[in-house]
Amino acid sequence: MRKPLMAGNWKMNKTLTESIPLIKELINLVGTYQDTETVICPPFTSLWVARELIQDTNILLGAQNLYFQKEGAYTGEISARMLQNIGCSYVILGHSERRGYFQESSAEVAQKVQEALIFNLKPIICVGEKLREREAGKAQDIVREETEAIFTVLKPAEVDRVVFAYEPIWAIGTGKAATPRDANEMIQYLRSLLVHKYGERVAEDTRILYGGSVNPENIKALMAESDIDGALVGGASLQAESFARIVKFKEKE
Ligand code: 13P
Repeated sequence: MRKPLMAGNWKMNKTLTESIPLIKELINLVGTYQDTETVICPPFTSLWVARELIQDTNILLGAQNLYFQKEGAYTGEISARMLQNIGCSYVILGHSERRGYFQESSAEVAQKVQEALIFNLKPIICVGEKLREREAGKAQDIVREETEAIFTVLKPAEVDRVVFAYEPIWAIGTGKAATPRDANEMIQYLRSLLVHKYGERVAEDTRILYGGSVNPENIKALMAESDIDGALVGGASLQAESFARIVKFKEKE
């Protein structure tokens, strides 16, 4: 059984001062909730305070990126070891905003995944196509290429420590989520790639999230699909109440 996972990607939002009340409110709403694994991924500047606030709760901490080198003269970068040391359990890697604005290649994302695993961080690996690629009938090709780049570094015994997230770029921040059926279809396709590479059992145990305009209104329908194991949530994770409703998608409102 794959436990549902809801991860809030705050992106470049919330100062340290703004992070504190948001985290406290979230703790009040879902701090003891156990049916969903709940992860917050604030900016680096709020990781420490988040870690202090969420200890003794069920909320876990994630970062939004790392650099694949161990340490040294890489001005502005953050290592896997630093993230482990500050208390992160997860790290988002290969987000489309990093691939797009910062020219991260799939090969670089793969290096980052390797480095994360060395330091016991669970990577949430993002893949997904642009609108024009979908319209050209290339959505599966893009997802396959981005996923197989990760397979080149991922050993069978490591797959249970990674999470994939299908985030179609046209659905991110647009208010236009993929339909549950389309999202599920692509996630089933991604799972079939896992079956092919690592076998049925491993593929059945690997969690694959959907991301892109997830909100409290559409989460139930997404989660009702067979293969969607959770969500990577952007905008709706910036308010405790809306993120809590997503985390508690199983509950009657
Ligand atoms: P939105 O939920 O704001 O569309 O962002 C999705 C996303 O990119 C999460 O990583």
